[in-house]
Amino acid sequence: MSAKVINFANFKGGVGKTTTTTILANILSQFGHNTLVIDFDPQGNSSDMLMKTAGLGDEIPKSIFEGIQQQDITDCVMYIKQDLALIPSDFDLIGFPLFLNKTTKNDLMKRAYLLDYLIEPLRAKYDYIIIDTPPTISDYTNNAVVASDYVSIVMQTHPWSFRASKHFIPYLQEMIDEYDTNIHLLGIVPVMLKTDGKMDDYIMRLAQQEYKEHMFSSEIKHSERVKRYALSGITNDLIHDKRIKKMYGKLLSEVLERVEQHERRYIEQ
Ligand SMILES: Nc1ncnc2c1ncn2[C@@H]1O[C@H](COP(=O)(O)OP(=O)(O)OP(=O)(O)O)[C@@H](O)[C@H]1O
Ligand SMILES: [Mg+2]
Repeated sequence: MSAKVINFANFKGGVGKTTTTTILANILSQFGHNTLVIDFDPQGNSSDMLMKTAGLGDEIPKSIFEGIQQQDITDCVMYIKQDLALIPSDFDLIGFPLFLNKTTKNDLMKRAYLLDYLIEPLRAKYDYIIIDTPPTISDYTNNAVVASDYVSIVMQTHPWSFRASKHFIPYLQEMIDEYDTNIHLLGIVPVMLKTDGKMDDYIMRLAQQEYKEHMFSSEIKHSERVKRYALSGITNDLIHDKRIKKMYGKLLSEVLERVEQHERRYIEQ
């Protein structure tokens, strides 16, 4: 077994990357897929969301940056629930670029491949590894993209998020060319759509014209309850949670279908 490594990305902040990542990881685990979330953002939002989901406090046993400094992140893994694990991050991760300056000097390959190298021993233990990244073009995103097999762009139906999504595709191509890495773009996931939002509809039309089959057919609607998960963690028992699980579950099925489709094509070649 080797985990499929997925990153939900966008250079624009606050577009729903972390929320999408953590909810999908939670559903993957409910389906019995052994899943690891790697929080690779110094904001530590996915750690916060998942630790709240598990009813844990704020205390992070061992942050990813401590592991990075020791060249081994395997013992940073913490248990969230059955089939769901987390490598948490803390604010100390802001030291990552400086750490790379010191340890990799001017070796750009080493610089971008560090996370990939550290993830290697974890690949055999999980079905899926999902990396959450900050909203920047930076060492964080470069490392996450190089370590990933699949990238999905999370696009809030807002002009600036659409604009940032456009920049992501050439960036991805540049990463493939520069770093000789295998990354497949799964597609663009539209999120936070407001029902009857005229601008949302307009951006969706633009995105569909431009990206055609790259656009996911599942959509994530804006939901006050999803917003509340940032405070409560992901809850699972009430009628509203079921509706949300269905909406994200549909997206997850499409993600997995697209992964399978790509792997079938790869084998046939
Ligand atoms: N489907 C949704 N419905 C309503 N609110 C949402 C939804 N998805 C995310 N949000 C809210 O949008 C805000 C930004 O979400 P999130 O933190 O997941 O974005 P992000 O892209 O990870 O941000 P950053 O770039 O800072 O890491 C949060 O307040 C979150 O609760
Ligand atoms: Mg985030």
